[in-house]
Amino acid sequence: MTETLLKIEGLKTYFFTEAGIVKAVDDVSFEVRKGESLGLVGESGSGKTVTALSVLQIVPKPGRIIQGKIEFKGQDLVGKGEKRNASDSRKRDSCNFSRSLFLFKSTLQS
Ligand SMILES: Nc1ncnc2c1ncn2[C@@H]1O[C@H](COP(=O)(O)OP(=O)(O)O)[C@@H](O)[C@H]1O
Ligand SMILES: [Mg+2]
Repeated sequence: MTETLLKIEGLKTYFFTEAGIVKAVDDVSFEVRKGESLGLVGESGSGKTVTALSVLQIVPKPGRIIQGKIEFKGQDLVGKGEKRNASDSRKRDSCNFSRSLFLFKSTLQS
């Protein structure tokens, strides 16, 4: 079977606002295999953008990934962003992946 590059499991990203908790992403799971393209489809406000921001680990405050697994090439990315270093070849892969997702995100927002 083709290699799984990205695996999202039980992802929950909430915004802790003064008005209350916004459950922007609530238990989302999907996989992307090598060579596959994945589109996120849903009505406005359903969490497409926040899903992409979560994968990239750039969720703005007061948002936070509160639960779930984000694996890229088998490496868990949640909370690990600051631990990667230049000698880690996976960092390059992650950056390329990030660029791809940014393009993807622009498409979603257009
Ligand atoms: N900075 C934020 N503060 C509070 N709620 C937010 C913030 N950003 C997004 N949300 C909420 O998260 C939910 C999902 O938003 P979003 O991912 O942008 O939806 P989509 O991209 O599918 O239109 C919406 O209810 C939105 O209002
Ligand atoms: Mg959006």
